[in-house]
This record gives sequence, structure tokens and C-alpha cells, in this order.
Amino acid sequence: MATNSASHDKSRGLILGIESSCDETAAAVVACGHQTLSTIVASQTATHAAWGGVVPELASREHLRNIVPIVRAALHQANMAFNDLDAIAVTSGPGLAGALLVGISYAKALAFSLDKPLIAVNHLEGHIHAVLLEHSQQSVEPLPMPTLALVVSGGHTHLFLAAPPSNISSAEQATWRYTLLGRTLDDAAGEAFDKVAKLLGLGYPGGPWIDRLAPFGDPRAVPFALTRIKSKPHLVGKTPRTKAAITSPVTMLDPRFLFSFSGLKTAVLRYVEENGLRAGAATREAALQAAIASGHTPALDQVRSLCDQPTLDLIASFQSAVVDNLLHRSFDAADKAEVRSLLVTGGVAANSELRRRFRSEAERRGLPIAFPTLAMSTDNAAMIAAAAWPRFLAGEFARLDLEADPRLVLA
Ligand code: KG4
Ligand code: ZN
Repeated sequence: MATNSASHDKSRGLILGIESSCDETAAAVVACGHQTLSTIVASQTATHAAWGGVVPELASREHLRNIVPIVRAALHQANMAFNDLDAIAVTSGPGLAGALLVGISYAKALAFSLDKPLIAVNHLEGHIHAVLLEHSQQSVEPLPMPTLALVVSGGHTHLFLAAPPSNISSAEQATWRYTLLGRTLDDAAGEAFDKVAKLLGLGYPGGPWIDRLAPFGDPRAVPFALTRIKSKPHLVGKTPRTKAAITSPVTMLDPRFLFSFSGLKTAVLRYVEENGLRAGAATREAALQAAIASGHTPALDQVRSLCDQPTLDLIASFQSAVVDNLLHRSFDAADKAEVRSLLVTGGVAANSELRRRFRSEAERRGLPIAFPTLAMSTDNAAMIAAAAWPRFLAGEFARLDLEADPRLVLA
């Protein structure tokens, strides 16, 4: 534990953030919601890669193993001790129940023993604040409000209208207000990236590999149709199949802002079968697994040399179709909601084609746009501590019987 304590001053607004909703154990200390004093992330990618996706039981076990050293490392990096903190913030959902529980149990024990307030943060709100936090650090001009937030990750593809507190001292709206405008009906975009990568023998997580290989293929080689949802889906009596499909109701949403990626995933599968690409995928998977087993992280050149041109064309076409899909709905929603800016966040916001095309469309329309840095695109705890700050100011604290809510909705 860090013993070299910073001077204790209640007005410093020091919040310890803890994040354990999926496969990253993270802790960070952020001052007053905008100054990152430390941020530590322990990724479990290597543990889950062998299984081709996140295994919930393994995730919980790794969080249990990591949580204490990661929090200590965050305090050490911030050069402070537990008693210097003003509050403990933790992700309370959505996410994997067992994974969330590790962070929540630890945060509750810490808040209780230190007699500090506990703040519950929605993971999606955290992703939105990852951008706001960095924007406030990098830019003199605040991002014009209200903003449209596209949260696009392995578990979510959601569009929110986000408005800041109107008056910090007003009980009416002392914290941020979020209105869900659209979301996916089936797979999240990151899930589609991961499933297609797995089908092509590229391993987990697949998004970054697709991103790096796409420039070597022709994005117009395979004409995937843009899925248009024409009417509101009839979900009554149907059991939702995916995480994304259960977190928020769709009956109130404009069909123009609903996403669907499962059709695209099936179209890729059909293309692989019809064009004899399966054998190549199996060879590639075996070669990459062998490299990983011998302790090597495969280099881009090696992975590229394992891909034939039709596979590279398929990868480029798939990525282009996902980005088309995200881009059209996001800008249509931005128009309809008359927002003054757009922000894109979550793991898939790291995608280079997505960034390039969103930037150029935003520029064409004169709409300010913001992305997180690559490190802040994926799960981290600085975003949780930053999102907790307005709640800290508003005195919106969680009770010590706080429970994990795997389907928590942001509203
Ligand atoms: O936000 P995140 O770390 O965790 C969740 O909350 O889900 O997002 C992880 C997701 C994975 O599906 C991963 O494949 C995807 O983000 N991802 C990418 C890229 N980097 C990560 N997808 C496309 N291109 C990337 N460069
Ligand atoms: Zn996330």
C-alpha cells in the first residue's frame, strides 16, 4: 500500500473508481471529475483468448485475484492513501453478474471501513464520461451540449441524447440526463466484429485484427446490404437472446435508430461457405493458436500472410458495412435530436475506419465530434470516477446494500 500520503484536503474531490463489469479489472483516482491522478487496468484478454470469448466464471476468478493489487497500484500511482479519498465509485451494471459482484463487494467493504460515501455508476455512463473527461483535459472549449452519444462496444450499441446538469445546486437536474434514442435489436457491433473474426480464424478479441487487416482488402468486393428496420419489432412474448436486447425496451424508439448486426453476421457466414473460405480459416486459426501457445504475439505481417485475398476483401467489406450502419443511424439521430455535438465511445470507437468516416461526415456537417483516446475507448476506471463526480456533488450516494444489476438501464 502507498504510505506516502498526499496532503489531506476534503475539497480535492478525490474519487477512487472501480470497474469490473466484464474482462478488465480497473481502478483509478480522478480529482473533481476532470484530473486523472492514476489509472490502472489489468486485462484478462490472454485468459479468455484460448476460449474464443469471455468465460464468465474465469472473469470472476481473475477479478478476485486482481482487485486488491489493482486498487493499491492506483493509489500508489496517485501517491496517496485510502484515507485521502473522498468517495468510492463502482460500476453497478450492466455487465456480467459475477464480475460486477467482485468490484461492488470490494467497494462496499472499502466505503464501510473508511466511512466514505459509495457512488454507483452505470457502465454506459462511464463510457460517455471517458470522452467528456479527456475532452475537458485536452480542449479549452467544452463540447457543445446537448450531445448525441454512440456507445459501441462488445456488449452495447446504444444512442443516447445526453444533457449536462442544468444547475448543480438545483434538485431538479443536478446530474446528467440521458435519453435512449436507439439501440441494437440483436448483437452489439463489437460482438459482430468478434464473431466474424472467430469465424475467420482470427481469435479473440477480433475487432482489432479486423481493423488492422481491412486496409489490405477491397471494401466494395462483397456488397452487404444495409439492414433497415422499417417498423417497430414485435417483441411481446419473445425471449431476448442477447445482452444488448435485454438492457432497454425498444417499443418507444424510432425504428430509424434501431441497429441489427445478426443478419450481417449470417451473410458473412454464408459467403464463407459459398466461397470455400472455411478451410483457410481453420489453417489460420491453428497457426495463430500455435504462435500464441509458444508465447509469441502474432505480428500483422504474419497474420496478413495467412489471409488470402478473398478473405481480406470479405474483412474490408464487413467492416465497411458495420461502419455504414453506425454512421447513417447516428447522423440521422443527431439531426432529429438537433444536438450540438456527437461523441463516439466504447471499444469499437477504437476502430480506425469508424473514426475516419465519422470525422469526415461530422466535418462536412460542421458538427463537433469527440472520441476517446485508444486507451480510454476500452474499459477503464477513470471513466467511472469521472462519471461519479456530478453524483458526488449532488450527494447521490448508494446504500451499502447496493447489488449488481447485470441489466441496468441508463435513463
Ligand atoms: O468497451 P469494451 O472494452 O468492453 C465492453 O464493454 O464490451 O469493448 C470491447 C469490444 C470488443 O468486441 C472488441 O472486439 C472491440 O471492442 N474492439 C474493436 C476494436 N478495438 C476493440 N472493434 C473494432 N475495431 C477496433 N479497433
Ligand atoms: Zn465497456
